[in-house]
Order: sequence, then structure tokens, then C-alpha cells
Amino acid sequence: MTIESLGSEALDRIAAAGDAATLEALRVEYLGKQGSISSLLKTLGKMSPEERQAEGPKIHALRQDVTDALAARKDAIDSAALEARLAAETLDLTLPAPAAPKGSVHPVSQVMDELAEIFADMGFAVATGPEIEDDWHNFTALNMAETHPARAMHDTFYFPDVIDGEGHTASSSEAVGEKKRMLLRTHTSPVQIRSMIAQGAPIRIIAPGRVYRSDSDATHTPMFHQVEGLVIDKGIHLGHLKWTLETFLKAFFERDDIVLRLRPSYFPFTEPSVEVDVGWQSVNGRRVLGGDGDAPGHGWMELLGSGMVNARVLEFAGLDPAEWQGFAFGIGVDRIAMLKYGMDDLRAFFDGDIRWLRHYGFSAFDQPTLSAGVGAKGGMGA
Ligand code: DAH
Repeated sequence: MTIESLGSEALDRIAAAGDAATLEALRVEYLGKQGSISSLLKTLGKMSPEERQAEGPKIHALRQDVTDALAARKDAIDSAALEARLAAETLDLTLPAPAAPKGSVHPVSQVMDELAEIFADMGFAVATGPEIEDDWHNFTALNMAETHPARAMHDTFYFPDVIDGEGHTASSSEAVGEKKRMLLRTHTSPVQIRSMIAQGAPIRIIAPGRVYRSDSDATHTPMFHQVEGLVIDKGIHLGHLKWTLETFLKAFFERDDIVLRLRPSYFPFTEPSVEVDVGWQSVNGRRVLGGDGDAPGHGWMELLGSGMVNARVLEFAGLDPAEWQGFAFGIGVDRIAMLKYGMDDLRAFFDGDIRWLRHYGFSAFDQPTLSAGVGAKGGMGA
């Protein structure tokens, strides 16, 4: 093959190469170590000086032409690839945003936020405590001694191990010093004890959170939510309790005609103890909170437990009952959520069914505020 025909063949093939891989193969074929142009260059050594003078410039020119053609073609291929990519990855910023996956705020979380909002307005702080408690905080300090029958009313989940006096986990038989049985707290009341011990008096807190009891049916789940309230100060009496609960319930249910009835009751940690009923009335065959519970067609519904903090409890928490008094209350958060937002099966709260969550859940933008009415303006499904 003549230098001229080799050159025109090379340039034709380079011009026809459609992609970078083909082009690289051609480079190797012509200019690689074993390439045909490289071999031609090697023949220069064996030529006579005259021959070399005639052939040398042609071969060098051929090599240069092919090298240039390869570079030019490579540029063309690269920029075509870039153009194609730019065209494929075009983003039209004027299009509407794609649908984002939508989460919802669980009614329990929403109600807890509502509680915090209402009570914050009355000067209450939010306190928390551990869900894994010891029996001293959960029972003993709340005036429920080892043998107290009220302990049996709580279907408690106990842990098999105990914590001994040195803070070590041990099986009951090998524990040393004062032993603590660990359990899942059966109510939020131990947060009363922890708060009094940690911050002393005066005190004004609510403590919302998870509690656990071995119980399960349409209105009971092994895990549920309570909110505890505690006020300790000087000269606190039952009137303060009633006003606080009434103010809270009016704000929570967004009705001014909420009426309460305090019924004598018994809790080991309060003395006196009262159960608080809320009046309801029948509207189109449905029970609606509000109205006079004693009138015909009206009635009372038990809502929560409360009372004046038992002097023994104050002592356990290191406060002098001659100086400090207070009231406490405990409410089922799930229960008041059901009453307010109309769910009838507690178990569905914890099934994680996306349809239920879409229907009863709240938008993250529905922040409860007192000025707008703490009741969110309807769930996501509304
Ligand atoms: N701890 C009680 C329970 O879980 C509820 C309760 C009743 C809490 C009276 C209180 C109270 O603070 O004063 O059943």
C-alpha cells in the first residue's frame, strides 16, 4: 500500500468513527507500537540516505495528519456526547414540583402538642421521665408499698433482672444492697416524683408520655399514652385543681359550656382523691361534650383521675408537707384524642395503617396555637 492510499484510508475510517472506542481502536491500529504507521517509521532506518530524504517527510507528514485527524474526531465525538447528555438531562424549572411523599402527624402527637400549648399558657413546663422505671419511682414513692393492693391493679411488665445497690444488673438471687425491680412504667405518675426530687418546689409541670400495661382489647392496648399534671406551691387547694382542669378542657375541646363534676375516689398518691367527670349532651343522637350533665338527655362521662398530692408522696420526694401542697392529675391522651377527633377503636392508633394515618393524621403545618384555636382545622383527610 502506498503512503498516499494508507493515508486516505486512515482519514476516511477516522472520519467515519462513531464513538470513542472505535476511534481508540483506530489509533492503536495506526499509531500504536505495532501500528502500521509506526512500522513505516521503523523502515526509515534501513533506507539509504537518499531514499530517507524522499520518504521521511512523507511518512512524518502522514503520522501528523493521522494524529491531527484523531484529535479532531475525538473532540467532535466528545462534544456530541456532551450535547446529547445536556439534551437528555434538561430540567424545566417552570414545571410544577414532583409530588413529594406525604407524611402525617399522628393524632397522639398532635394532641400532645395541643396539651403542651394549652398548659404552657398557664405556666406549665413539659417534664419527661424514663419508660423503663424502677419500682420505687413507679410504686413505692407514690405511696404504694410492696404489699399495697393497688399494685395488683396495674398489670405490670416487670424485667427479669434487678438493679442492685451498686447499680449493677443482676438476677434477683445474686443482687447486693438495696434492690430495684425494673419495669415498664404503668403510668406517668413517677415523673411527679422525679420532677419534685430534681427541681424541688414550687413546681408546675405536665408530663406526657408512653405507659405500659399488660392489657388488650378495643379500648386497651399494652402501650398507651398519658399526661400527668403536677402543681406544688403554697396554699394550693382543690379549687385550683378544678379551675385548671376546666380551663384546660374548655381550650382543648374548644367549647365554653364544658362542665365538670368532681366525684370522691381513691388513689394511693392523692388525698383527697377525685375522679373528674365531664358533662355531655345528646345532639342528633350523638354524645357531644358540653351542656349540663344533670339535665334530661344529658349525662356524665368519667374523664380523669386527680386529687391533692398525698403528704406521704411529698415526703418521699423530699418536700415538707407542712410547707408545700399541691394537686396532681392523670389523663389518657389516646382517650381524649378519640373523644375530640372521633375515632372509636384504640387499637387502630398503633396499627400503622397508612389509610388510617392519612385520614386521621394532621399536616405538619397544622401547629396548634391558642390564638387559632388549638384544634387543628381538620385532619389531612378533611
Ligand atoms: N396514675 C393514675 C393511673 O394511671 C392516674 C392518676 C390518678 C394520676 C390520680 C394522678 C392522680 O396524678 O392524681 O391510673
